[in-house]
Amino acid sequence: SCPGKIEAEGFTGESMKLLHLIFLLALTTGISAVLIYIIGVSNLYESNRLSNGDLEALQSLQSGFKKCVSANGLGLQAATGRDYCKVSINFPKDTVPKWKDPKSGELEGLSYEFDLCEAVATWEQVRNSSTILTKEYIDALPNGWEDYAWRRINKGIQLNRCQNKSLCIEKLSLVLPETAPYFPRQFERCAVIGNSGDLLKTKFGKEIDTYDAVLRENGAPIQNYKEYVGEKSTFRLLNRGSAKALDKVVELDEKKQEVLLVKTTIHDIMNKMIREVPIKNPVYLMLGASFGSAAKGTGLKALEFALSTCDSVDMYGFTVDPGYKEWTRYFSESRQGHTPLHGRAYYQMMECLGEILLAFWF
Ligand SMILES: *[C@@H]1O[C@H](CO)[C@@H](O)[C@H](O)[C@H]1NC(C)=O
Ligand SMILES: *[C@@H]1O[C@H](CO)[C@@H](O)[C@H](O)[C@H]1NC(C)=O
Repeated sequence: SCPGKIEAEGFTGESMKLLHLIFLLALTTGISAVLIYIIGVSNLYESNRLSNGDLEALQSLQSGFKKCVSANGLGLQAATGRDYCKVSINFPKDTVPKWKDPKSGELEGLSYEFDLCEAVATWEQVRNSSTILTKEYIDALPNGWEDYAWRRINKGIQLNRCQNKSLCIEKLSLVLPETAPYFPRQFERCAVIGNSGDLLKTKFGKEIDTYDAVLRENGAPIQNYKEYVGEKSTFRLLNRGSAKALDKVVELDEKKQEVLLVKTTIHDIMNKMIREVPIKNPVYLMLGASFGSAAKGTGLKALEFALSTCDSVDMYGFTVDPGYKEWTRYFSESRQGHTPLHGRAYYQMMECLGEILLAFWF
């Protein structure tokens, strides 16, 4: 309906069926759903515990998924992987990868393997949970303060596992609500805005401002770019570097109402700024969920928060166009970014599982 936007096929029905199947398996085999994706669903059906009907459901999930990728992926194609849960998403052969792994010095690959079963199970859990760190959460962990809380404080190791609990509470107090400030599906339609230079190719601004909540990242500016990125801003997700410049970040939203979500740890410098600048915006720490090695960046964390708080999530500015030469930002010179192709493939998987909608320029 909106120009420049690709509708994902109605796939949620299929992935819900699969989810149901995964939970059913968890029940009948007497292990928790969490264990399922550690040991892998594949092991279960290799031992013949899946009926033909179940196998058909998995097969149909996969074939629908492949169709969705080729219809919506701007040249991406999905291929069957080693088992029914696994697929690979492949870029066109003439794609020229530009991003080099700083450790190995190797260029990013053109083919990525994903586990659909694992993704469905993990993300459905995210959709039903709070992703903000709360006091309630720490208290409910077996040794929440001794084993976990200090990890969320910069140089927490020096706190001797929160031996002095009141000191730990004090350090976390400005960013630690008693209970979850947001609940699943609190907002109906949300937009997550990435920082890709592709955003300058379409004036999505007005469209973005129609969402119930808009989530931005790090130092992404609004002023001077409103016609492209809109001006509504509900949440802003911050990595370590941005969080250290909290005083600068709050300037980006003229209304000063953004909720700031910090991906890493609380820092004495941040506490001081919140108290003394003072910073009136709510500031929270994100819980850390693990998604394995795939696409670890701020974008995925933003998606995690959005899916835990919103009914539907559309993503803008996460694209790597088919003629991809270099990852650019809409507000600065070319930057290295990190793993742009891997990230793009991951978001394509998410779209074709019916979890999100990707907005593209044409
Ligand atoms: C979602 O969370 C609620 C409340 O914690 C729980 O009762 C319900 O069973 C959960 N649903 C799923 C599908 O996990
Ligand atoms: C624990 O921390 C509190 C708050 O910072 C401090 O007032 C108190 O002296 C500390 N207690 C010990 C035993 O170090």
